[in-house]
Amino acid sequence: MSRAVIPLVIDTDPGVDDAVAIMLAAASPEVDLRAVTTVFGNVPLPNTTANARRVLALAGRDDVPVAAGAARPLVHPQAERAEAWHGDDGLGGRASELPEPGAEPDPRGAVAVLAAVLRESAEPVTIAPIGPLTNIALLLAVHPELAPRIRRIVWMGGSLGAGNTTGVAEFNAHCDPEAAHRVLTQADVPVTMVPLDLTMSCPAGPEWIGALAAGGPRGEALAQVITHYRTAFRTRYGIDAVAVHDAVAVLEAILPGTLTPTSMAIRVACDLGPARGATVAGGAGPHVGVALDADTDAVLAEILTRLRTLG
Ligand code: RIB
Ligand code: CA
Repeated sequence: MSRAVIPLVIDTDPGVDDAVAIMLAAASPEVDLRAVTTVFGNVPLPNTTANARRVLALAGRDDVPVAAGAARPLVHPQAERAEAWHGDDGLGGRASELPEPGAEPDPRGAVAVLAAVLRESAEPVTIAPIGPLTNIALLLAVHPELAPRIRRIVWMGGSLGAGNTTGVAEFNAHCDPEAAHRVLTQADVPVTMVPLDLTMSCPAGPEWIGALAAGGPRGEALAQVITHYRTAFRTRYGIDAVAVHDAVAVLEAILPGTLTPTSMAIRVACDLGPARGATVAGGAGPHVGVALDADTDAVLAEILTRLRTLG
């Protein structure tokens, strides 16, 4: 049976789990990876951009264009980065051990490259933002005419329950709540939101990481990148496992329907109070599909199986 080809752009802040997600896309034959655009987030934009290029080189895909986007949020300064989780370099201290990056980033920048991909594509394009939504909010502001050319947005972010950056806010939403509000509440593009409620319920444990490492040199290098992140999870949560948040979202982008969405309106707290960045279900706004359920064992197994094909 022929597989549906998915024209895809990943917008990312690598980030250890971003690296897993990018490698997953590279390992997936359904994916026509048109570009990778980068955004501030886990670490500053220069690092996220260099990291995206190195991870693509690791995956043997340094042919994929990379373009840098927003270095900071739309309105207020970034309140918190995530070096504690991802290491000072964003890849668990292993960035320099990965292959040298390929071509220089596209000087047009993320928004222009996203617009060009959308304009030039024969069919609508899936966009998988796995960091703050700043680039996507800017794209929709500058090029509203291109919204119909976006098949869907599959965003890793938000949480209906506990947050991971504050008690109530998930990191990607907390980085730029105004951008999240713009993308989640103005109905110009179908959105699937993949929140912590789901991604924290499918932790990748020692066997998963061991099988990744045993898959070959690329899997071993990625497992090394995960080491620091794994220590952070042990310290913070007391578990020997990691949440591959971004890879769960990208698997949904690659295989639509892998996750089970619930349709609901989402409101984003954009005040400067203690709830800033919270994503709250309910209200009168347009609905998004919030992925709250999945066969999490099957999701983890599928991600691992695909990653291991990279060798
Ligand atoms: O809250 C998890 C998200 O924040 C992931 O995208 C991770 O990479 C960080 O950016
Ligand atoms: Ca990320």
